[in-house]
Amino acid sequence: KEIVVSGIRPTGFLHLGNYFGAMRNYVRMQEQYDCYFFVADWHSLTTHPDTKELQDSVLRVLAENIAAGLDPEKACLYVQSAIPEISELYLYLNMLAYKGELEKTVTFKEKVRQHPENVNAGLLTYPVLQTADIIIHRAKYVPVGKDQEQHLEMARNFAQRFNHRYGELFPEPHAFNFGNELVKVPSLDGTGKMSKSENQLATLYLADTDELIRKKVMKAKTDSGPTEPNSEMPDYIQNIFQLMSLVSEENTLQKFRDDFNAANIRYGDMKKQLAEDMVRFIAPIREKAEAIRADETYLKKVMQQGAEKARASAQETIREARAMMGLNYLG
Ligand code: TYM
Repeated sequence: KEIVVSGIRPTGFLHLGNYFGAMRNYVRMQEQYDCYFFVADWHSLTTHPDTKELQDSVLRVLAENIAAGLDPEKACLYVQSAIPEISELYLYLNMLAYKGELEKTVTFKEKVRQHPENVNAGLLTYPVLQTADIIIHRAKYVPVGKDQEQHLEMARNFAQRFNHRYGELFPEPHAFNFGNELVKVPSLDGTGKMSKSENQLATLYLADTDELIRKKVMKAKTDSGPTEPNSEMPDYIQNIFQLMSLVSEENTLQKFRDDFNAANIRYGDMKKQLAEDMVRFIAPIREKAEAIRADETYLKKVMQQGAEKARASAQETIREARAMMGLNYLG
């Protein structure tokens, strides 16, 4: 079986972007691949050094993933910090990653702009740690959203650099989505992607109540509608259609497309429909996640069982890496 790895940072509530960019693929991939899915708690320290809520977030991320359909008997679920071998590989890879290329990373530049007071070395080497996460299990596929594309390209470079210097150990990891194109779920306010922390009213979280979902969807940016048939669709209207394509029936979507093209669309009705379809989609995940989150004994068992398997795989890679690098002094 081919190996798959992916991770989610426990920096807040999971949202629709996480679901459609990543989790939905995890659930499908667990049937056919050897899957390792983890909670990236070390990565979250780059921007969230306060760890008061960390444990709660880690458990919630696990619960939400299981509620979305991940089966701990099929996929290996673990927490990054349970696998110290990842940090050892990170150290080796840091010697092969250059300051200049790390400074050019889009996500790094974004973080520098947002938080100029906390430009720490961990933030700079974030893609190196992400590479270690992936290649520690020698993964071939990495189900992620569009925003991770550049990190995957860097992962290929770092893995290849290791291979060139010390010998072939790592396969090239590739970003993966069942629909081929990587997904970017837009936010509700017409600006950019949905994200954990940006504008909370523009993000639909898997933990949102029905009323909150309705309220957020009804607030989504629209206008008074096209004045002539077959008008060009503004970005923020395209976003609403895209969101609808994720959770609504095809014929519902088609009806509103036709209405738009006939310059006869009522965005109020469209948003009401979208809100109901969102509620129908999110409510069962939210309810399941709450029940799973309440059973900490179960979640801890899942974490422990996952860590054992992930660790065995990581130890094997580190053993080989050390041998190839000539660090196995005692044979
Ligand atoms: P994170 O925690 O920000 O997001 C988790 C996953 O959700 C996807 N995603 C989206 N997809 C589509 N539309 C959106 N609006 C959207 N928002 C988030 C992300 O692409 C991601 O797949 N660096 C990673 C975590 C990580 C990782 C790894 C991933 C650490 N090590 C190793 C893969 C392999 C991140 O910050 O994801």
